[in-house]
Amino acid sequence: MQTMERKILITGGAGFIGSHLVRLMVNRYPNYLIVNLDALTYAGNPANLRDIEEAANYRFERVDICDVEAVREVFERHAIDSVIHLAAESHVDRSIDDPFAFARTNVLGTLTLLQVAKERWTDDAQHLFYHVSTDEVYGSLGAEGAFTESSRYEPHSPYSASKASSDHFVRAFHDTFGLPTVISNCSNNYGPYQFPEKLIPLFINNIRERRALPVYGRGENVRDWLYVEDHARAIDLIFHRGRVGETYNIGGSNEWRNIDLVRLLVATTDRLLGRAEGEDDNLITFVRDRAGHDLRYAIDSTKLREELGWHPEVSFEEGIERTVRWYLHNDEWLTAVTSGEYRNYYSRMYDGR
Ligand code: NAD
Ligand code: DAU
Repeated sequence: MQTMERKILITGGAGFIGSHLVRLMVNRYPNYLIVNLDALTYAGNPANLRDIEEAANYRFERVDICDVEAVREVFERHAIDSVIHLAAESHVDRSIDDPFAFARTNVLGTLTLLQVAKERWTDDAQHLFYHVSTDEVYGSLGAEGAFTESSRYEPHSPYSASKASSDHFVRAFHDTFGLPTVISNCSNNYGPYQFPEKLIPLFINNIRERRALPVYGRGENVRDWLYVEDHARAIDLIFHRGRVGETYNIGGSNEWRNIDLVRLLVATTDRLLGRAEGEDDNLITFVRDRAGHDLRYAIDSTKLREELGWHPEVSFEEGIERTVRWYLHNDEWLTAVTSGEYRNYYSRMYDGR
């Protein structure tokens, strides 16, 4: 194999955002070795990367980020010089049911990676530990304003508390040990390959199947939505040009009340299925609110826009159209991930590698 310019470990690359990032990096940088380290939990699916899995600059390692020996071994074998860390438990509702799983992966797993990076990176070569985080660490907004990089941390769910804790550990390793780190905090992503427990894919599927659409509370919560490929492009930019030790907020400046978004999803899905637009509005069902439900998120990404020239390339109209079409045309993927069969299939395929 040719000499690789960079050897980058991407954790959580078999998940939703991770798979888009791995695809972008593998295709854009043939001179980089991209090692995807993923434990393949319920949310990880190597089928998300079928189109690039044979690429010469791609490797897959089925490893739990909490397994220090296995992580060390991967760092050594591939001479990893940089990390882009996405592996996490990512669903807020699951964190309410099982907070410990979130502390384990999101806090201890991040700490494990930091520790191994610190041990290994003692030379003068170029290194970076890039931690991918969320806007949820900042808590909830009222009707006005947006989170900046200096907003106070005020997490409310076990998920956001675990992500906030991992952010603190990353900064502590920078400040205490001089580890070259960077953090980004992004708003809600949407697009293909998102596990259908999250609002947008869950609802598209339910509309198609004519099942109830469980809107929490009165649907008045607001989220700032960004097309997943725009997030991947932002990560690529920050990885290459972000300043070490800094934090960058990433957001679409695209706020939607849940109920308005759900009506848009109904209208778009109905139209693409050849039904009358809005015909399935009657599926909307208001249910008990999520405990500790944050009212509003909005991201101020001025720093990223002005310093690095990033801007979202996919409009919400275009992104939603693409996303609904993708779920409607990828029945097989949706059925497989909802039935859980894919995990058995891929476990057989990757075990013993
Ligand atoms: P996801 O749940 O789709 O994927 C998570 C991936 O991590 C899966 O492939 C899973 O197998 C892997 N994983 C989980 N536990 C692991 C462990 N112990 N060891 C190794 N691998 C493990 O998540 P996502 O939505 O793609 O989010 C990716 C990252 O981006 C997370 O860190 C999340 O906090 C952050 N983020 C997500 C969003 C969003 O809207 N989805 C927004 C901002 C930030
Ligand atoms: O803001 C970034 C975060 O966005 C990421 O860090 C998380 O990993 C990601 O899961 C997402 O968190 P949310 O809780 O905002 O996403 P979710 O898709 O679960 O919910 C979006 C909104 O829709 C939220 O206000 C809750 C509501 N909702 C969600 C579901 C699943 C419903 O009303 N009904 C539902 O069934």
